Amino acid sequence: MTQDTPATVLLDPHGAEFAADPYSTYAALRALDGPYYYKEIDTWMLTRMADVEAVALNKTMLRNNEAFISEDARLAQQRAINFHDMPHHERFVQVNLLESEGATHDRLRKVVFREFTPAMIARQREAIQSFVDRLLDSLSDQDEVDFVGDFAAHVPGHIIGRILGVPDEDCPQLRHWSEEVVRFFDPGRGDEDKARAEQATKEFYEYLLDLLAERERAPQDDLLSRLIGHRDGGRLSQDELISTAMLILMAGHGSTIDVLGSGMHALLRYPEQHDRLREDPSLMKTAVQEMFRYESPLPFFHRFATEETEVGGKLFPAGTRFGLLYGAANRDPARFENPDKFDVGRTPNRHMAFGGGGHFCLGNHLARLDMDVIFSTLNTRFAAISLAEETPEYKRGLSVRGPKALRVAWQRA
Ligand code: HEM
Repeated sequence: MTQDTPATVLLDPHGAEFAADPYSTYAALRALDGPYYYKEIDTWMLTRMADVEAVALNKTMLRNNEAFISEDARLAQQRAINFHDMPHHERFVQVNLLESEGATHDRLRKVVFREFTPAMIARQREAIQSFVDRLLDSLSDQDEVDFVGDFAAHVPGHIIGRILGVPDEDCPQLRHWSEEVVRFFDPGRGDEDKARAEQATKEFYEYLLDLLAERERAPQDDLLSRLIGHRDGGRLSQDELISTAMLILMAGHGSTIDVLGSGMHALLRYPEQHDRLREDPSLMKTAVQEMFRYESPLPFFHRFATEETEVGGKLFPAGTRFGLLYGAANRDPARFENPDKFDVGRTPNRHMAFGGGGHFCLGNHLARLDMDVIFSTLNTRFAAISLAEETPEYKRGLSVRGPKALRVAWQRA
């Protein structure tokens, strides 16, 4: 496979133009006669649903390339992306359930799957409702708010913290650590971000150690206590317990904030769809799925080929890195009729915002429940919500999608 690609399509995910509209770039990439080689990260980008799905479901495609590179090459790779000399981050963030494969991944996934059941998530509805009500009460004397900063940013970290067993008053601190750690994944990261990510991981680790000691003395009905049981039963190590707790917080925190912002924005951009949802609340489930499809908050993941494989009609050698652009696949006209239309009643809606195959998102029920409770509550508590700024600015980069802020005006019902 040569690495020549037509000069006509330019992928520049760092710019303001891409942040404002990644979808025209995705459409241009999809129209090429095969995957697009993105030199900056030595990755073949996949934008068609058929290709993205095939790679995500292919068991020979792995998230890490440890199986076929030497330890020296792995260290060189780690240095190249400035992921070295940060002991806590390397121990608890760079190695975890999401980054593992094979027997380790199967074992860890089984443990977390047993605990993160749809029934356990459904039991959180009341707690989510009461937190959302209290938060909205505190904002109700304002006619205009930043929906992202004043509202959405407070919800997911609090709910995940609660599931883990973190006391309510510590949840804002959790949010801070999560943001500091996740910021380091941004393409524009610098050494200061690195120092902050390491510091936050260290503090979070020390916090979890204390909390674990408390739970060991007096187990509660929470996820940390249950993970301790699995650790004591030999199903995961102490480091794995800590990295799993960190992953659960980080995987679902920023992404849920982002999709709350972009989902609200979609409803405000297409008021006829918002009216339809208000008139028929039974559409909430399909509306939430459509929000995930329309603006997938985690649009980019990757896989390595462990053997020579055909993708998108072309043959690639073992070691090739593929970019799974879930956000692009979710706008593929070959899968979705009128893919650029936001349709709260869309069925079927087989999107890939939560991935697919072996790494399929463990938190999808929780993220969808948060959204369901929030948008249902907003529709009953507010007679009207409108956009209070012309064009909200979206975050830059390939890996995240969501508005930085979203100014809305609202009138109570
Ligand atoms: C807006 C919400 C969310 C989105 C869009 C999302 C998306 C995803 C995607 C696409 C993957 C697969 C990654 C890949 O293909 O390599 C994934 C994995 C994962 N997600 Fe989520 N997620 C969300 C919320 C959550 C929440 C709330 C949690 C936990 C509370 C969570 C926990 C996880 C975990 C643990 C994995 C790794 C699974 C594995 O490797 O086996 N996610 N998520």
